[in-house]
Amino acid sequence: MILLNLSLKNPFYLSWKLRDGALHAWVISPGSLLSFKKDATAWTQALNCLSIGNQNWAMDASILVLACAHKNFSNNEKSNRWSQYDTGAACENICLQATSMGLVAHQMGGFDVEKTRQLFQIPSQYDLMSFIAIGYPLAVDKMSEASLIKEKEARKRKPLREIFYINQWGEKSL
Ligand SMILES: Cc1cc2nc3c(=O)[nH]c(=O)nc-3n(C[C@H](O)[C@H](O)[C@H](O)COP(=O)(O)O)c2cc1C
Repeated sequence: MILLNLSLKNPFYLSWKLRDGALHAWVISPGSLLSFKKDATAWTQALNCLSIGNQNWAMDASILVLACAHKNFSNNEKSNRWSQYDTGAACENICLQATSMGLVAHQMGGFDVEKTRQLFQIPSQYDLMSFIAIGYPLAVDKMSEASLIKEKEARKRKPLREIFYINQWGEKSL
C-alpha cells in the first residue's frame, strides 16, 4: 500500500510533466488520460467513484488520473486490438516516471465504472481501465500502525518459473 500526502504545490504542472515524460513513445488517443486536481470539485467526484477501501488512502493523493483505452484508432476509427495494451503500458510508464521524480503512484482497478463514465461523460468508445493516485510518500512517523506494517511487508512476486514457459506452452524452466 502506498500512502500519499498533499504537499504537491502545482499538481497540474506535474501531471503535464508526467504525461510528457511518460507517454511520448506511445500512440495514445486524445482524452485517454483524465487528470483531477486536488482543489477541484471534480477531484472529489473522482474520489467518490473509487471503492471505499481505495478512498480510505487515496483521499490524500495530490493527483488522480483516470486511464481510458480508446477502442478504435483515432486516425481511421478502425478497431484497435492493442488499445488496452497501450494504455496499460502508458500507465506503467507514468508510474515509472513518477517514481523517478521521487513520487509514488498507485494504480487502482477498484472503482465504479458506470458511475465514472456518467459523471465525466466519457464516450462509449473508451474503456475505463484504472485510476492512478499520485503524490509524495507520507513520512513514516505519520503512518498508522496498520499502514506501516503493510508498507514494510516483503513484496510478493510470483517466481519467474511460474510465469515463463520455455519453448513450448506449459514447459517450465528449472
Ligand atoms: C490494473 C491494476 C489494478 C489494481 N487495482 C488496485 C486497487 O483497486 N486497489 C489497490 O490497493 N491496489 C490495486 N492494484 C495494485 C497496486 O497498484 C500495486 O500494484 C500493488 O499495491 C503492489 O504494489 P507494489 O508494487 O508496491 O508491491 C492494482 C494494480 C493494477 C496493475
